[in-house]
Amino acid sequence: MNVRSTRPPAPIIPTASGRAPWTLRRRLVVAVVGLLALVSLVIGVVSVAILSANLMDGLDSQLKNTADRSINLFDRPPSGVSPSASYVLNGPSQQSGTLALVYDGSTVTAGYTDQAGTIVGLTNDQVTQLVTELDTAVRNGQTSEPFSVDLGGDVGEYRVMAETARSGTLFLVGLPVSSVTGTATQLAVIIALVSLAGIVLVAFLATAIVRLALRPLQRVTETATRVSELPLDRGEVLLVERVPAADTDPRTEVGRVGSALNRMLDHVDIALETRQASENKVRQFVADASHELRTPLASIRGYSELTRRSGQDLPDDTKHAIGRIESESIRMTGLVEDLLLLARLDEGRELEREPVDLTSLLVDVVSDAHAAGRDHVWDLDLPEEPVLAAGDGPRLHQVFANLLANARVHTDPGTRVEVALATEGDRAVVTVTDDGPGIPENLRATLFERFARGDSSRFRGTGGSTGLGLAIVQAVVQAHHGEVTVDSRPGRTSFRVELPLA
Ligand SMILES: Nc1ncnc2c1ncn2[C@@H]1O[C@H](COP(=O)(O)OP(=O)(O)OP(=O)(O)O)[C@@H](O)[C@H]1O
Ligand SMILES: [Mg+2]
Repeated sequence: MNVRSTRPPAPIIPTASGRAPWTLRRRLVVAVVGLLALVSLVIGVVSVAILSANLMDGLDSQLKNTADRSINLFDRPPSGVSPSASYVLNGPSQQSGTLALVYDGSTVTAGYTDQAGTIVGLTNDQVTQLVTELDTAVRNGQTSEPFSVDLGGDVGEYRVMAETARSGTLFLVGLPVSSVTGTATQLAVIIALVSLAGIVLVAFLATAIVRLALRPLQRVTETATRVSELPLDRGEVLLVERVPAADTDPRTEVGRVGSALNRMLDHVDIALETRQASENKVRQFVADASHELRTPLASIRGYSELTRRSGQDLPDDTKHAIGRIESESIRMTGLVEDLLLLARLDEGRELEREPVDLTSLLVDVVSDAHAAGRDHVWDLDLPEEPVLAAGDGPRLHQVFANLLANARVHTDPGTRVEVALATEGDRAVVTVTDDGPGIPENLRATLFERFARGDSSRFRGTGGSTGLGLAIVQAVVQAHHGEVTVDSRPGRTSFRVELPLA
């Protein structure tokens, strides 16, 4: 028997609210690019630091040479020339940018040469700053040791060294640090630009490579998605979907996922086949049992009828018993017929497909219902033109007879029942509406299931209700590729049957 799950399958890609998590591709690309940026940064910082240190060492040894040359100059001053800053700066082999400050015991002279070799004086503040540095260095005995001084303004940072000439003259020479920082800055800019270009290139390449590498995973996902869209919960299912062989190589990660999925699909396939086989077996059993029961039931009914009609004088209780046997055997025959019909519909047995005139069929059904339920008010609303549906006449008759029987049996006398026929597009629509008490709330969810019936069924006691009526309605309508729906509340219950037109 079919058990239809009412829970829809969960989507493979959940439409979760909130910020979307990062995809594997994005995570891999970001990781590669991030690592490359980090490595480039470390290489850049270390390179610039080493270069700066080396250049500073070079500058210091140049400074030492400058200081030595200056000491020699002071040793042999030309006659009539007093030692001064310009004397030092004009000396042979002094490079441009050199700074000098000389204190000959009475006066202080200071200046530096610019790019063109012209001597430029220093401001009073700069001279005072240098004198203080010179004084401190001499006082602490730190002569011949290079140290940095920032003179600010256009002059900038200098590497300076204090010295005492053999004549006793105190002086200080310096070389600009700007040459060192300039070169280091240049290197830093070059490394940054090259790294940036490299990072952009790697980002593009990594995106392409990761996309290529994840393509098999994409194919595995597509297979799983296709399987998830198959209706596996009912009927005979052909589960032929498999991950392509190229993506099931167990030596790769994706291959392992693919082959695991294929193995799972094999298992599911076997399970579905087993389910189908056991369902078929149950169906076959129900069909066989119902079929076999028809003959003995007919005999029981025949004999009881015969006995009742034989005209013999029977005691009252025997008469009553025979009457009960007859009515129960009629009820059981109906039940067996219903079970047989359901089993055959479950088997997927094709129904007749010929034009059925719904107009005259409904006229018949309503007049039968009218005859059976004189206390109800019956309304029939038919279109001018006859409406032909494609299907099996006796089965469709049974559908509407069941709906009208319900409207009669499960409502109170005086209830108005309206039967209407119309067409909507390529469908015939029949509605059966009553203004009775409505379908009990607890029954609505399972209304069309087998043996689902209301507790208060007035006919239960007398054996009139089995709970198969609406199950048959649904099975027959679905076998016609139609649809049956219900809308019920106290005071209004409406069944709507849609059938394809002939
Ligand atoms: N028009 C209706 N008004 C109120 N209740 C209804 C109506 N139609 C169906 N029902 C409720 O739905 C239940 C199931 O209906 P269904 O036709 O399947 O079984 P049944 O009428 O009880 O038995 P059967 O039709 O097999 O003799 C009924 O028992 C009844 O409680
Ligand atoms: Mg019924």
